[in-house]
Amino acid sequence: MRFSEACERNKEPIRAVLEAWLPRPARVLEIGSGSGQHAVHVCRTIPGLQWQPSERGEALPDLRERLQAEGRQGLAQGSGLGEALELDLTQGAWPAGPYEAVFTANTAHIVPMAAVEALIAGAAGCLGPAGRLLIYGPFRRADQPLEPGNAAFDAHLRALDPAMGLRDRDWIAAVAAAHGLALLAEEVMPANNRTLVFGRAAAPPAA
Ligand SMILES: C[S@@+](CC[C@H](N)C(=O)[O-])C[C@H]1O[C@@H](n2cnc3c(N)ncnc32)[C@H](O)[C@@H]1O
Repeated sequence: MRFSEACERNKEPIRAVLEAWLPRPARVLEIGSGSGQHAVHVCRTIPGLQWQPSERGEALPDLRERLQAEGRQGLAQGSGLGEALELDLTQGAWPAGPYEAVFTANTAHIVPMAAVEALIAGAAGCLGPAGRLLIYGPFRRADQPLEPGNAAFDAHLRALDPAMGLRDRDWIAAVAAAHGLALLAEEVMPANNRTLVFGRAAAPPAA
């Protein structure tokens, strides 16, 4: 079964940030669920979540294997894990929602920038009125140099594929703002990661 050491290390800090920001009950769409370890952990530890994992086609079999093996037992009260959905950020077909949250971990630096824009546009389209978009991972920040570990990771990614690389937090926030999502918080996570939390920007006051 596909297994990620990093997921084992970060699943508990991710649970804590989701617990702090998600309403309950909540329908949550996860993009790029990978091994499914986050989905299983969160649904076993936070009550009241209806979690919809998703992946692009080539990664679906691995995700389905974990969900089949672990996704039915020991879930927290009122929580449920849906069947893995095919969702490729480069291809466009999104479920209608509405969702209370869209969550993704460690995808923004893997997919091309156009796919990050598609992620934000897709989330804006399927979130309910009080919906949240949570993006976990390492980010660049204009006001600070990259931490040495993140700089090395960024160089490694760009050598593999110039379309990959750590994204700028302010660029993500600007794309989100263009889709009516405001940056509500930037949660500091272990190992120089962050969770960016977005919510619908307040409507401008009537003139
Ligand atoms: C570094 S992994 C992160 C997986 C998991 N979220 C985690 O934190 O361990 C990046 C994930 O992005 C997915 N991915 C890559 N391109 C994608 C695309 N175009 N649409 C959706 N997911 C994509 C990959 O299949 C992979 O599972």
